[in-house]
Amino acid sequence: MKDIILTGDRPTGNLHLGHYVGSIKNRLNFQNQYDYEKFYIMIADTQALTDNHDNVDKVKNNIIQVAIDYISAGIDPNKVNIFIQSMVPELSEITTYFMNLVSVARLQRNPTIKDEIKQRNFDKSIPIGFLNYPVSQAADILAFQTTIVPVGEDQLPMIEQTREIVNSFNFTYKPKQEVFKFPKAIIPEKKICQRLPGLDGKLKMSKSAGNAIYLCDDTETVKQKIMSAYTDPNHIHVQDPGKIEGNIVFSYLDAFCEDRHFQQYLPEFQNLEDLKNKYKHGGVGDVKIKLFLFKIIEELLTPIREKRKECLENINEIYKLLFKNSEDASKDARKTLIKMKEAMGIDYKKLLK
Ligand code: TRP
Repeated sequence: MKDIILTGDRPTGNLHLGHYVGSIKNRLNFQNQYDYEKFYIMIADTQALTDNHDNVDKVKNNIIQVAIDYISAGIDPNKVNIFIQSMVPELSEITTYFMNLVSVARLQRNPTIKDEIKQRNFDKSIPIGFLNYPVSQAADILAFQTTIVPVGEDQLPMIEQTREIVNSFNFTYKPKQEVFKFPKAIIPEKKICQRLPGLDGKLKMSKSAGNAIYLCDDTETVKQKIMSAYTDPNHIHVQDPGKIEGNIVFSYLDAFCEDRHFQQYLPEFQNLEDLKNKYKHGGVGDVKIKLFLFKIIEELLTPIREKRKECLENINEIYKLLFKNSEDASKDARKTLIKMKEAMGIDYKKLLK
């Protein structure tokens, strides 16, 4: 049996370079090089509402933005089912039954949830829906018989929770036939791509920290942002020795640069090792490395911007596609829900004589 792949994002803002190296790139690899059974990308609006319940417009407007980001970045809607979470009601029903298999204490121990509770000042009063989102995410994954989940590193606790739910379901209901598959998370190989730092060098790249380069940023904005990126504050003159650790330009080069970029844009250096060595010894200016990075990022973003223009002219078509895809996804999830209820013994229609 070939793999079924599922992943998703909350529609709370445009996608940025952190998303690109953290998950989109892996998705493109799967899409283009892997022989899978099915591939779903879910726009997780229901999950987005768990910490934006009073900001429906933001979530609503970002559904199409995220869909456009996907398609512009190269996700092919003919190969991947991009759908909207809330338009697949089976997911909520599956979540309801899973909620009986997980304790509040277990959710409070989830490291990603813990971080997010702090960030959102939910300490005193945690919305039930928010605390429960790992359970709902397990339903997203298990409803489609998913075997592979390409995600960022911060999502690992969610996959762990999902596997625990499968165990607990099997232990409790002892299904005669397999109802759920055990999914596996795939995270980026390069460490730097698992958690791309923001332009300020302090936090990870995120919309809320205001330190992101977006896939939809125009050339001038990208240039400005890269020119303002945190490097080594003690590297003042070109001749000064420079530090690589914590230098955001080098972090981004680690994430984005390939050997061929040197031949194309900076032939005086052989490769990244060579550039780093010379920077450390002194003699390489920040403007030089920033312009090099800018060219690499522009090469990535130029075709994405072109496709975005096309998408913006076809918004209605994209909506129609999302709605149709959600119906298909709903049919797929229904099959699992039926098996689940059978295994639990709550398929009451069987009682009719
Ligand atoms: N939690 C993910 C995020 O914050 C979004 C998401 C929801 C997801 N359901 C999922 C990711 C299922 C992978 C699989 O971006």
